[in-house]
Amino acid sequence: MSNNLIDNLKLELNRVNSENDLMNLKSNYLGKKGEITKLAANIKNLSVEEKKEVGSKLNSLKKEAESLISEKFKSIKNEIINKKLESEKIDITLPQRESNLGSIHPITQILDEVLDIFEGYGFQIVEGPEIENDYYNFEALNIPQDHPARDMQDTFYLEDEKVLRTHTSPMQVRIMENNEPPIKIISPGKVYRCDSDVTHTPMFHQVEGLLVNNDISFSNLKSILSSFCSDFFGSNIKTRFRPSYFPFTEPSAELDIEWVNKSGEKKWMEVLGCGIVNPKVFEFAKYDLNEVSGFAFGMGIERLAMIKLGITDIRYFYQNDLKFLKQF
Ligand code: DAH
Repeated sequence: MSNNLIDNLKLELNRVNSENDLMNLKSNYLGKKGEITKLAANIKNLSVEEKKEVGSKLNSLKKEAESLISEKFKSIKNEIINKKLESEKIDITLPQRESNLGSIHPITQILDEVLDIFEGYGFQIVEGPEIENDYYNFEALNIPQDHPARDMQDTFYLEDEKVLRTHTSPMQVRIMENNEPPIKIISPGKVYRCDSDVTHTPMFHQVEGLLVNNDISFSNLKSILSSFCSDFFGSNIKTRFRPSYFPFTEPSAELDIEWVNKSGEKKWMEVLGCGIVNPKVFEFAKYDLNEVSGFAFGMGIERLAMIKLGITDIRYFYQNDLKFLKQF
């Protein structure tokens, strides 16, 4: 009978494959109303001799049943762990995902380079508003209403005599209004013009420079800007100053560099406008004309970037094509 019971248990154990079912099976055999417990309950009706014999048999039966069941527990647990290991397997031979680090936009890189160079010459960086009064953008720079230079600038007009600044030059009068000479500043920032083609975008960047003291001449201007060109483009760069016209400087010039492009062709390229500050501008700033003299210059950052990086279409800078941007 006891062998039968163990055989039955073994059969049933084979069919069990969850912890829950095994618990139920265990209580069917070893629980309060289990088969083995029932057998033990019958002992009390036996004689002392029989009790000894049956008792010890029952004990070993119970032990065997217990050990079979605890084996099964172990094997079910192992199976669960193995299944988990299998399903959570990580293939460490897979190549890792590419991490997408950002980079500094080429225009910001060039702008930083320009600012670094002028800071090295002792210029202080100041910034001004992009929404500008007509007064600072035009009037105080000696560009009155009806002046033909207004047409050259393709202005975005806003309400209340405000404009999106068309250049960084308004910072000249803003700075001089609030500071006594000497002045030695550069002012970087965004400027806006209603214009778009391969060399123009409606928004672009300029850096304005202004140096005012009591004895400034065109040779000071030439010296600083020539140094800038060799620091920025390389010490072999050839420069030339070509007479030009700006209402806020007199005399005015444009600075060209001789640039050798990738196919080896040499070409004069215009890089900035400059000149001796027009006394009219000092008047707007309420400076004493007998005491001060100065020079100013303004350059387009996109233009510098196009020359230096060899880019033929300005619009590449603003299309946010990663293939283009990642080259820098
Ligand atoms: N503001 C001029 C422009 O946007 C550039 C310029 C020319 C600035 C001569 C100057 C200057 O300060 O002296 O075209």
